[in-house]
Amino acid sequence: MAEFEGKVAFITGAAHGQGRATALAFAKEGADIAAFDVAKKIEYPAYEFGTSDELKSLKEEVEALGRKCVICAGDVRDDEAVTAAVKKTIDEFGKIDILFNNAGICAYAEVDKMTDDEWNAMIDINLKGPFNVTRRVVPYMKEKMSGVIINNSSVMGLRGGRRLSHYTASKWGLTGLTKAWAIELAPFNIRVVSIHPTGVNTPMNDGLAAMEGKTPMEIAEASAGNLQPVPWIEPEDAANLVLFLASDKARYCTGGQYLVDAGLLSV
Ligand SMILES: NC(=O)c1ccc[n+]([C@@H]2O[C@H](COP(=O)([O-])OP(=O)(O)OC[C@H]3O[C@@H](n4cnc5c(N)ncnc54)[C@H](O)[C@@H]3O)[C@@H](O)[C@H]2O)c1
Repeated sequence: MAEFEGKVAFITGAAHGQGRATALAFAKEGADIAAFDVAKKIEYPAYEFGTSDELKSLKEEVEALGRKCVICAGDVRDDEAVTAAVKKTIDEFGKIDILFNNAGICAYAEVDKMTDDEWNAMIDINLKGPFNVTRRVVPYMKEKMSGVIINNSSVMGLRGGRRLSHYTASKWGLTGLTKAWAIELAPFNIRVVSIHPTGVNTPMNDGLAAMEGKTPMEIAEASAGNLQPVPWIEPEDAANLVLFLASDKARYCTGGQYLVDAGLLSV
């Protein structure tokens, strides 16, 4: 039997990048998927967001693997859209076993040049977004006395990032939410953990480089942070960690921070 047979995973930011790779990895291991994504360009940052075509093709790929997939277009900042997506998932599958709070944005800005709009968008999407989704999913997990919540933070949720103070603050905040939720939800048999990837080869990585007028490789060479000689990791590397943490093999992992950083944080 596949490892996640009979399980339901709700994934935000699922249209492309790490969210999509994780959705497909779960589906390959037998899970049904609820794929949530804003699926359109939003005001900030100026790079490519997921699209409704990507959500549709994800559904087709999940179904080709013999699993079910509900797709929901919405912004993690929008409580009505989040509530509707969770309800749609419950109507279809009856439960949510795994929540991957993955949707997020990133952009560079020096502190003295950062606008209110940039600060607010970063905090609203990366920090309040996971709160919005988690508070709507948790009642169903409590009902089943079972669940796993995995927050996609970043290495920047455990260190500082140059010209990334708003991003760094949002990701440290998410690390804090992980610990607080783990305490609160342990009595309900709900585990909460965070993952902390180094640079990942996704549209976000490409978009950030383009906004700097550089190639992704030029950015990676300039930072040269990874101990292992790779410029970045692949979305599937982050997905592998998510699947391990969601599995019963990780049954006593809660409240912790898990690196997939090619050694970056060791120095
Ligand atoms: N790419 C990296 O180098 C890297 C490294 C560490 C952590 N992360 C974190 O991993 C997560 C996923 O990043 P990625 O690299 O796959 O990014 P990505 O930009 O390639 O994909 C993010 C997805 O989230 C969606 N999204 C963005 N804002 C949303 C919103 N307000 N509501 C709903 N959906 C929204 C986008 O449409 C997109 O499909 C993010 O939280 C990011 O901060 C990324």
